Parts: sequence; C-alpha cells; structure tokens
Amino acid sequence: MTAALAVTGLTAGYGSLIVLRDLTFHVEPGEIVVILGANGAGKTTTLRALSGEIPAEGTIELADRQVGGLRADQRARLGIGHVPEGRGTFVDLTVEENLRLGAYHRPAREVPGAMERWFEVFPQLAERRGQLAGSMSGGEQQMLAVARALMGAPKLLLLDEPSMGLAPMLVAELFRSLAEMNRQTGTAMLLVEQNAELALSIADRAYVLEHGRIVSTGTAEELRGDDSIRRAYLGV
Ligand SMILES: Nc1ncnc2c1ncn2[C@@H]1O[C@H](COP(=O)(O)OP(=O)(O)OP(=O)(O)O)[C@@H](O)[C@H]1O
Ligand SMILES: [Mg+2]
Repeated sequence: MTAALAVTGLTAGYGSLIVLRDLTFHVEPGEIVVILGANGAGKTTTLRALSGEIPAEGTIELADRQVGGLRADQRARLGIGHVPEGRGTFVDLTVEENLRLGAYHRPAREVPGAMERWFEVFPQLAERRGQLAGSMSGGEQQMLAVARALMGAPKLLLLDEPSMGLAPMLVAELFRSLAEMNRQTGTAMLLVEQNAELALSIADRAYVLEHGRIVSTGTAEELRGDDSIRRAYLGV
C-alpha cells in the first residue's frame, strides 16, 4: 500500500544553521506516528518542513505525490493539515470564523456539515461558537486549533505538542478525541508530544529524534518497553 507520507533524506534548517540531517521516515494510511525528542531536537522544524513553512531538501511524498517543491498553501490543499506549536488560532475571530477558515479550500456546501461534525467531537466549541477565540481558555483554543485543521479534511494531520498548556484532564480528553477521530476517519497523524507516555498510548509507531537525526524507531509498544527510552522520555 502507498504510504500516507514518505519522507526521504529530509534536510532543513534556518539560514546557514542545519537542524535536520537526512531524515527518512514514513506514515502509513490510518497510522498515528509519534516523534519523540528532547527540547531543540528538531521536532517542530520537521513539521514545518513537511507543511512547507520552511524550505527543505529531500523528497516528501503525500500518498503518491511529490509535494516537496510546493508552497504551504498548495500542500494544505493536497491534504496536509498542521496544528502549529502554540496553537495559532485567530484571536480576533469567532470559533465559527476560525473553523470556516480551516475549510477555505473546500466547497462551501461541505462546510456546515463538517462544522457540526467537529462540534460533536468538541462540544465545548459548540457552546462557544460565537465567542472570540482570544477570549477562550488555553485549552479551548487548543481544541479550536485542532478542529480548525480537521475542517480542511486533511489526509495527514501534523500536530505539534497539542497538550501544551492544557490541564491533565483536558489533555486526556483531547487525546481521546484524537484517537476517536483517527478511528472514525482513518486520518493519518504525525504527532510531536512532550507527554511521551500519553502519545505512545494512542500511537502505532514512533521515531526518536536527537540533534536532528533519527536515532531509534519501533512500535509504540516496543519503545514503551525500551529501558533507555523509558529513562529519557517516560520519566522512569
Ligand atoms: N526560526 C529559527 N531560527 C533559527 N534557529 C531556529 C529557529 N527555530 C528553531 N531553531 C533552532 O533549531 C533547533 C531545533 O528547533 P525545534 O524548534 O525544531 O526543536 P523542537 O524539537 O521542536 O524543541 P521543543 O521541544 O523545545 O519544541 C534548535 O536548536 C532551535 O534553536
Ligand atoms: Mg517544538
């Protein structure tokens, strides 16, 4: 089967600073894959290179299509959804307006149905549909950022630390929603997450990034059972 995402030799950085060195990895259709790594390892840079926010060398194939040369908006249209680090909702727009923007490239007739669907998954957003995003709690804004990405009907969802700043109960709820969304829609997910235990609990596989290189990979189960991974990322 064709991978949802197949990345070969990804090299990227900022100006003369090379952050990612020759990364090769893949996400199969319907899979949830986690990238683990210490602060500064290059996790955010990886997602930014995939969504087209920063230039990169190497090949990036979405399904069968090489998207590496395309602009960010073109990649979004082809099915890459990105929930950036630190949320990135439009604070001066309402919940509904934010969601509509997430679906800007879809036919208008599909938008109301899609919105109601994600309101079902995230009922807190439904109750606040007319509220300005900037006046919502951090957790509510994080859910909005995820729902907005889902409004684009992505084939591949990139999530950069979705649990950041959320209370433990909300984190658990968000991850349940993500797992449920994955089950229902089969959307492939590439997840960067500090909370390794939780991330591995919903993931199929993981890659470990150190100083911009992949140093380890395996099934979520294998990595949870690996002593060095447990010490470094699972706090045991
Ligand atoms: N805009 C930028 N300009 C220059 N260097 C940057 C920029 N963004 C990130 N870096 C550097 O690239 C390296 C990787 O950063 P990145 O944000 O990808 O790490 P990360 O794994 O996401 O870390 P964290 O867990 O703290 O979010 C770091 O050394 C960082 O200082
Ligand atoms: Mg980061």
